[in-house]
Amino acid sequence: MCVFVFLQAPVTSIMKENKWRLYITEMDELNRPIHTFQVCHVMEPNQNNWLRTNWIPRQAAQKIYVELRFTLRDCNSIPWVSGTCKETFNLLYYEADEPHGANAHFHPNDYAKIDTIAADESFTQTDLGDRVLRLNTEVREVGPIARKGFYLAFQDVGACIALVSVRVYYKKPGFYKAFAGNIKCSKCPPHSSSHTEGSALCHCEKGYYRASKDPPTMACTRPPSPPRNLAFNINETALFFEWSPPSDTGGRKDITYNVSCLRCGADGQPCQPCNSNVRFMPRPVGLTSTSVVVQDFVAHANYTFQIEALNGVSGMGRSTRQVANITEQEQLSYSSTRTKSPSAIVTGLKPSTVYVFHVRARTLAGYSSYSPKFEFATGDENSEEAADQGQVLVIVTATVGGFSLLVILTLFLLITGRCQWYIKSKIKSEDKKRTQYQNGHVPFPGLKTYIDPDTYEDPSQAVHEFAKEIDPSRIRIERVIGAGEFGEVCSGRLRVPGKKEIPVAIKTLKGGYTERQRRDFLREASIMGQFDNPNIIRLEGVVTKSRPVMIVVEYMENGSLDSFLRKHDGHFTVIQLVGMLRGIASGMMYLSDIGYVHRDLAARNILVDDNLVCKVSDFGLSRVLEDDPEAAYTTTGGKIPIRWTAPEAIAYRKFSSASDTWSYGIVMWEVMSYGERPYWEMSNQDVILSIEEGYRLPAPMGCPVALHQLMLLCWQKDRNRRPRFSDMVNFLDKLIRNPSSLLTLVEDVNGFPESPEDMPDYPLFISISDWLDSIKMSQYKNNFIAAGYTTMDSVSSMSIDDVRRIGVSLIGHQRRIVSSIQALRLQFLHVQQSGFHV
Ligand code: ADE
Repeated sequence: MCVFVFLQAPVTSIMKENKWRLYITEMDELNRPIHTFQVCHVMEPNQNNWLRTNWIPRQAAQKIYVELRFTLRDCNSIPWVSGTCKETFNLLYYEADEPHGANAHFHPNDYAKIDTIAADESFTQTDLGDRVLRLNTEVREVGPIARKGFYLAFQDVGACIALVSVRVYYKKPGFYKAFAGNIKCSKCPPHSSSHTEGSALCHCEKGYYRASKDPPTMACTRPPSPPRNLAFNINETALFFEWSPPSDTGGRKDITYNVSCLRCGADGQPCQPCNSNVRFMPRPVGLTSTSVVVQDFVAHANYTFQIEALNGVSGMGRSTRQVANITEQEQLSYSSTRTKSPSAIVTGLKPSTVYVFHVRARTLAGYSSYSPKFEFATGDENSEEAADQGQVLVIVTATVGGFSLLVILTLFLLITGRCQWYIKSKIKSEDKKRTQYQNGHVPFPGLKTYIDPDTYEDPSQAVHEFAKEIDPSRIRIERVIGAGEFGEVCSGRLRVPGKKEIPVAIKTLKGGYTERQRRDFLREASIMGQFDNPNIIRLEGVVTKSRPVMIVVEYMENGSLDSFLRKHDGHFTVIQLVGMLRGIASGMMYLSDIGYVHRDLAARNILVDDNLVCKVSDFGLSRVLEDDPEAAYTTTGGKIPIRWTAPEAIAYRKFSSASDTWSYGIVMWEVMSYGERPYWEMSNQDVILSIEEGYRLPAPMGCPVALHQLMLLCWQKDRNRRPRFSDMVNFLDKLIRNPSSLLTLVEDVNGFPESPEDMPDYPLFISISDWLDSIKMSQYKNNFIAAGYTTMDSVSSMSIDDVRRIGVSLIGHQRRIVSSIQALRLQFLHVQQSGFHV
């Protein structure tokens, strides 16, 4: 129902000598002042007091409804009243196409009577016997109204009236108005509707709910779908779970996760809840991040975990629990087998189930890291190999220059030799199931390999091979969120057959394009369509058969990582930042495993969803460099984002996963500095020269030593020494599992050089004033000078507390000043290539 209320105080055009008065002394039940118009001249005969509203535009109304709330005293309750006392008043209206001027004469005869209004009941009796004046509500229908608007009038003929509110509305289903006031009524929020006149609230559709604190203006929401992409990692003491947020958040942002743990006996006994010895970090329930570490398992037991997604309306109505599943989307269980032989038969497997194996070696020297994971699906119950059902043979071989296996396993740990793993299935054809993994940057053969769309003679064939064609009628474009090289980027919704709508980002190709532009535009979809990883932006499909040509991808609520971090400077814990880095490394590990080199990895090309999950985006090779505002022409004519690019790629275009690793180190630096520009305002040429001389970015303020060390490893000149993404994912997982490893910050260990000999020279030109100008902090010149810091020498020993003390109160500015002091003083750290291994 649509309601619009006109009763704004003061209501104008009261007739000469009329006796209506505006009072604001009354309070409502919430102690807010109520404006009432009152009149009470019950002792005097021949009363004729008029109160008139302002002109009310009819809008789309045919008939209007007038709801009056008022009190009317009954004449018997007023002592000494004479027969002049009345207990009614008149409601009238007058149609007009436009408002009359302020000085226009008031003609009561123009007004048509709607009704005489009487009170239902003037007084009610309280439990204590007091008589309380009762608020009456009366509604009258008026119309049809033909003119563009109308006035309402209230004629008092000698009653004692307090008019509390007048609401004027017309009926328009699906609308509501939550608050009184001269505002338009609103369409019911999504998943709700109104059924009665003058609704102040819309009711939720079946299956949708409002949490107790949700305002009536908010859409009705529902419980989320289960978490997705549940993955796990096991080491000797801990199980590390990670998952992606539900694809359907139910329309809410307050998603949390609960992890439940069941311990199952090996002998088929029913599973029991895990006892309290099993520890969860940070905790088992109410998780807001998408990972958890579980520790302190009992040996020789099977555990089953369920990850449940919840939001503010979970548990309302008869909503069901939304539990993550890794295979059948129900549960994940793991168990381990130890053997001294290089093979193991795993029995008791269920039919039609996906199993994931990984293997590691153990010697006196400790454990090796795990092999990559192998996925293996058992056949169904009726398969030919019924006799072998439920068994798999895992064969492990390791070779280092032809030594025997025993020696090799020992050497493997000590000298990191080459290792090959085989897994062989007895259930399905053995050859088909054999997979092999080799260390190094060779694509992982267990995964499909990336195919360069340019190798297709007909590029549109590549698009159709890797991307679904979407019927444009399924896409609803809502708003423009950015501009790309080829056209606008919009947000909107995609209807997926058999499912509900999902939010999407839509890249469009603007009209008037050349065939080459179309091909370049769609190249990104041909690339993205080959990827399937929770840390890579997902392609939903393309529109190529109608105009505009579009690429539709999943929507990432927080946009690009660099601007997101700048907007939330200082807001996250180190663990949250490391979680983001871990996600990016994991996405990059996937890309390098399938042989894709990104070439433009930078925080601006990472997208962030509303659960802080980071996903790598912006694929397109040649396009990357055209589109990226950071890309600059090199002396060899290439266009390259210099600050993010490895020296060998700048110098002779040697792009590889190892050059992506260099860029990843820069992304780490961007993340830990909350979106600071790498190398600040240095020119590209100076960056290239500094890097060539061996200088590297110093740690951002508050950066754990372990992370800066990892950055330095990524920035090694010799690309073969740079860590692989899988190493980095492992390393970051370890940091997350042992948060104390992140407590040592670079500033704690570096301090400033002990002696002047250790102190690098400052650039000669630097004065306090030039320096502050160069970092755009000129506004603090007086603070430095007033506090006695007149030379860069004196500034070099300032701590963050000193910076605060001289009056720099904004944390972002403190950060910028201190990191610049470090940068200047250290003149970029020389790479230390020893003493640290991932
Ligand atoms: N900008 C570009 N792509 C986007 C996406 N997928 N989600 C949100 N913002 C974007």
